[in-house]
Amino acid sequence: KRPAGAPDKSLAKPVTKVGVVGAGLMAGQFSLLFARQLKVPVVMTDIDQARVDKGVAYVHGEVDKLLAKKRISPDAANRTKALVTGSVSKQAFADADFVIEAVFEELQVKKDVFAELEEIISEDCILATNTSSLSVTAMAEGLKHPERVVGFHFFNPVAVMPLLEIVRAPETSDAVLATAFQTAKALKKNAVLVKDAAAFVVNRILLRLMGEIAKAFDQGTDAKTADTALRPMGLPMTPFSLLSMVGVPVALHVSESLHAAFGDRFWVSQNQQRLIDAGKKGIWEIGEDGKPFVP
Ligand code: CAA
Repeated sequence: KRPAGAPDKSLAKPVTKVGVVGAGLMAGQFSLLFARQLKVPVVMTDIDQARVDKGVAYVHGEVDKLLAKKRISPDAANRTKALVTGSVSKQAFADADFVIEAVFEELQVKKDVFAELEEIISEDCILATNTSSLSVTAMAEGLKHPERVVGFHFFNPVAVMPLLEIVRAPETSDAVLATAFQTAKALKKNAVLVKDAAAFVVNRILLRLMGEIAKAFDQGTDAKTADTALRPMGLPMTPFSLLSMVGVPVALHVSESLHAAFGDRFWVSQNQQRLIDAGKKGIWEIGEDGKPFVP
């Protein structure tokens, strides 16, 4: 059955090569998925060789873990590893037909990446964004081919979360949207079409819960106590563990977007900002004194 809002699948084109911009954690997770499920070359790029190497090494390491758990055959493991390569040059995307960005969550950064990519990629290459909260419409503005831009939003951990939010901007073409849905299906994800509104659907709801916990934390509630108290509530993961997994900078950016769009219903946590300023990844990171870091 065709997902609600998905155009006729006869408009879709097969994806034969994927480009990934930004070789961080989410990018590594979905690069592996593209290589495993689509079985096409995936090129990861970032601003320097060290980041590129780290991204590719992460993917290869995940393949090794699957091999150790006998979830993948030795042949498939070798094939998957060979499909995922890295390059500091975006020229490697010249013959890609699907490029997805997962760079820093800031509109201008993403717009600059797309503008630069348009000079390199082919006429009909799709530009997808894994943004969690920013306007896909704004990202497409000013491009020569805004019709090729689409939101393709994965959830962490990508390997196990079944949902994918597909975001249509006003100028996204039916053909691009059809390819996005077909690609999601090939990746074995349940794709839903969502409106281009701040943080789309899932994060808009999730951040109400996360924001309330962050507010309690800012107002003096001990994080460990809050997580322990919430454990029997049947959540798949307690809020502070989820915050550490998603990453404090990402969570803070999403809450800022939601605060800008909907005001005080969404809390922007001063403590999360302090964690970032102190270079901490999550509140469970152990400080130099051997105690969990609390700002
Ligand atoms: N990468 C790959 N696989 C992972 C993984 C990871 N990071 N974490 C867990 N898994 C796999 C495990 O290997 C295991 O697979 P097998 O059963 O095949 O061995 C499976 O997931 C279940 O893991 P566990 O048994 O260890 O643990 P669990 O039952 O508690 O499940 C979880 C782990 C799926 C992560 C679960 O805790 C969960 O659903 N948490 C909530 C995650 C969530 O809300 N994500 C959305 C975050 S918001 C976001 O991502 C959007 C954004 O833009 C900010």
